[in-house]
Amino acid sequence: MNSKLTQIIAIANQKGGVGKTTTVINLATAMAACDKRTLIIDADPQGNASTGFGIKYDQRDKDLYSVICRKNNINVSIKNTMIPKLDIIPTSPDLSVLEQELVNEHNREFKIRDLIEEINNIYDYIFIDCPPSLGLLTLNALCAAKSLIVPLQTEFYALEGLTQLLKTLEAIKNNFNTKIKLQGILLTMYDKRNKICEMVSNDVKIHFDDKVFKTIIPRNVRVSEAPSYGQPVLMYDISCPGSQAYASLAGEIINQEKDLK
Ligand SMILES: Nc1ncnc2c1ncn2[C@@H]1O[C@H](COP(=O)(O)OP(=O)(O)OP(=O)(O)O)[C@@H](O)[C@H]1O
Ligand SMILES: [Mg+2]
Repeated sequence: MNSKLTQIIAIANQKGGVGKTTTVINLATAMAACDKRTLIIDADPQGNASTGFGIKYDQRDKDLYSVICRKNNINVSIKNTMIPKLDIIPTSPDLSVLEQELVNEHNREFKIRDLIEEINNIYDYIFIDCPPSLGLLTLNALCAAKSLIVPLQTEFYALEGLTQLLKTLEAIKNNFNTKIKLQGILLTMYDKRNKICEMVSNDVKIHFDDKVFKTIIPRNVRVSEAPSYGQPVLMYDISCPGSQAYASLAGEIINQEKDLK
């Protein structure tokens, strides 16, 4: 396949706990279930995406950090998951020192982009899980990506920080990566019994209009249970509302691309 067709999507929001990792794990699983060859790059030193697939710490010596800093071959760091067609480059806490180590390095914003260039003819989709900050790792993800998905928790403070994130996206577009676009804002952890959720989601739709995904991810206890079993929720309980929502999101993204062609 032509490498230009690989969709590289960063999932970022500097606000913590909004559903970035949950979205990466389950959207990637849903894409693989749609027969798309998919890779997750775990670019968060917390390593929650790696844990979410049951990858133990002693299996993470060939992680993202080792590929970037020790110049290990990228292929040795790619692990299969239990989901057919879904691979992951895991991370370890080592990655937390990367930002200091690269501080004086030329091209420090392009480490992940350069890695992907070695492999992106293999995959249909690459999802990058970002840490909750706008530091060098998120910058790397945004310099490598073709688009950005912003998960937004439907709660009172949701919009705080979004303006700064969108300004950062503009700055990256102007200075480093002219092709990047906002793929969409994803409302997460929506609870229909909670009035605040309805107010916040209406507000976001008024401000961002067609940039808000039609699919809304509901708050669903099955979604939060799945990582403790080292499984995506689509595997843990395919029929629960959270799984159905992530499957619908995958369909929405595939259709967005068809419309662009
Ligand atoms: N739809 C949902 N329903 C219920 N719980 C959820 C849902 N989405 C995420 N959670 C839970 O909320 C918590 C935060 O989610 P997650 O780890 O995906 O956020 P994050 O943005 O990646 O966090 P961080 O900023 O720390 O990386 C987790 O415990 C997760 O299981
Ligand atoms: Mg996370």
